Amino acid sequence: MSEYRFALLVLSDSRYKNPKDDKIKPIVEDILAVINAKLVEYEIIPDEFELIKNRLIEFSNLENVDAILTSGGTGLYERDVTPQATKEILEYEIPFISQAMLFNSLKYTKRAMLSRMVAGVRNSKLIINLPGSPKAVKENLEYIIEVLPHAVDKLNGDTTPCAT
Ligand code: MTE
Repeated sequence: MSEYRFALLVLSDSRYKNPKDDKIKPIVEDILAVINAKLVEYEIIPDEFELIKNRLIEFSNLENVDAILTSGGTGLYERDVTPQATKEILEYEIPFISQAMLFNSLKYTKRAMLSRMVAGVRNSKLIINLPGSPKAVKENLEYIIEVLPHAVDKLNGDTTPCAT
């Protein structure tokens, strides 16, 4: 089985100031292990529109990265700009990834409808927004993880028939 390579970008003013407070990385690593994927890039940056856009472009230009997850900044606070920044750099969206996560998350909390997370593709790299809390990251990523290898394979040019 291929080893998939993921980048994780955490967007948070507070965790940027206190990186040790970030609890997202080990949660993401545990879930990625299910599909034999590993984190090859990890960074915490503040909720700055241009910075987020630039990092997403840089990560999606890296040859050793198959997919990029972001965590945080998807809500309604004025500094929450992750979805806007992501949309600006995507070539196209995959709306049903976010809709599937919302569908599942509503089982846990109706507040899930307050997240504006988006998913899509740039430079053949999958990019998926996740909310910022460790609980929300776990609930969302666990739900979609099994589909991600197929998405990455297709983006990498796999032409074998999809039917299972
Ligand atoms: N999704 C799940 N599965 N579980 C959660 O606890 N929290 C919600 C939502 N999505 C939540 C969730 C809440 S309270 C908010 S405000 C939004 O995600 C946005 O979070 P963010 O600003 O940290 O990205």
